[in-house]
Amino acid sequence: MIGRLNHVAIVVPDLAAAAQMYKNMLGASVTQPVPLPDQGVTTVFVELPNTKIELLHPLGEDSAIEKFLRNNPSGGMHHVCYEVADIDWAIDQLVTKGARVLGSGKPSIGAHGLPVVFLHPKDFCGTLIELEEHQNQTGH
Ligand code: CO
Repeated sequence: MIGRLNHVAIVVPDLAAAAQMYKNMLGASVTQPVPLPDQGVTTVFVELPNTKIELLHPLGEDSAIEKFLRNNPSGGMHHVCYEVADIDWAIDQLVTKGARVLGSGKPSIGAHGLPVVFLHPKDFCGTLIELEEHQNQTGH
């Protein structure tokens, strides 16, 4: 079902400092900050040859990651995102097998303009999983 690892998301307390660290210390290519008010985050993308790292910082009043940062003041890994070819089919399969889909249980449009859902971390070894639909993904 799951295909490529699309990205790993890391919440950071200082976006500029984190971007500089990835650029100068780790020698990675980083983008300018991208504000995503609908998601309540500002993102910097770290572009790696085989995947991306998304550095996330809260944006606005009630950002979903504000609490995460309070509980993890120095930041930390927030979620991993896997690509699926057909997100509705994937949700059906997962629910049938007992997994919990967060929120409405239906896909919403995520940070990249593609349908996404999040799966309950307690069903996946303590890891928050995002599924993102990429219709060019092979298989289901
Ligand atoms: Co994500």
